[in-house]
Amino acid sequence: MAVDDQVLGKPKRVSAKAARAAQAAVTPPPVAAPGATPSAEEAAQQEITRREFLNYAWLASLGIFLAQMGAVAYHFTFPRFKAGEFGGTFNVAAKELPELAAGPAAYNQGKFWLVHTDQGVLAIYKVCTHLGCLYDWKPTEGLFICPCHGSTFEKSGKYVRGPAPRNLDRFVVQLKDASGATLAQTDPSGGPVALPSNAEIIAVDTGKLIQGARHG
Ligand code: FES
Repeated sequence: MAVDDQVLGKPKRVSAKAARAAQAAVTPPPVAAPGATPSAEEAAQQEITRREFLNYAWLASLGIFLAQMGAVAYHFTFPRFKAGEFGGTFNVAAKELPELAAGPAAYNQGKFWLVHTDQGVLAIYKVCTHLGCLYDWKPTEGLFICPCHGSTFEKSGKYVRGPAPRNLDRFVVQLKDASGATLAQTDPSGGPVALPSNAEIIAVDTGKLIQGARHG
């Protein structure tokens, strides 16, 4: 009979339950009035949004922190000074080393004196260990003398007299052959480096200062 009704174009009978479901599907959700208290569902949605925002903020903070750590690691991993500028390494040809009996050779850009002693090679910092003046080499006296307060040092940088509290400071020196292989270098005490016969290069590292020993 029902088949006959459809075939004849008669309206199909719909149950009450199905009618209510269809009505709910086409009815738009109620819009909250301004100032009205949000429903539990809206509050839950707002809570999720807030949580997502906090997650994004935390991730952004983490990203900034990692970027800063990377920048610090880069800064300390790579040398900050170039060869040939103070703070970096100066390569001096061994043949430029002064004769044993001669006075020191000044390297103003590197702020050191290159000295040849009986025990070997030294690179002495040009700044006085008293209050930081630049001292001079006095050939007639064979001594370093500071013009500020008269501190005096031997050619090796050893304290002689005056208010300076310690010997002159020294830089680390490496003696290398023609291929660049290191033959000898300054020991931790800063003593002179004996000069091998096949040394071709004197590398003075002005980034590595060894303080002179205190006297008295
Ligand atoms: S700064 Fe050299 S003696 Fe005072």
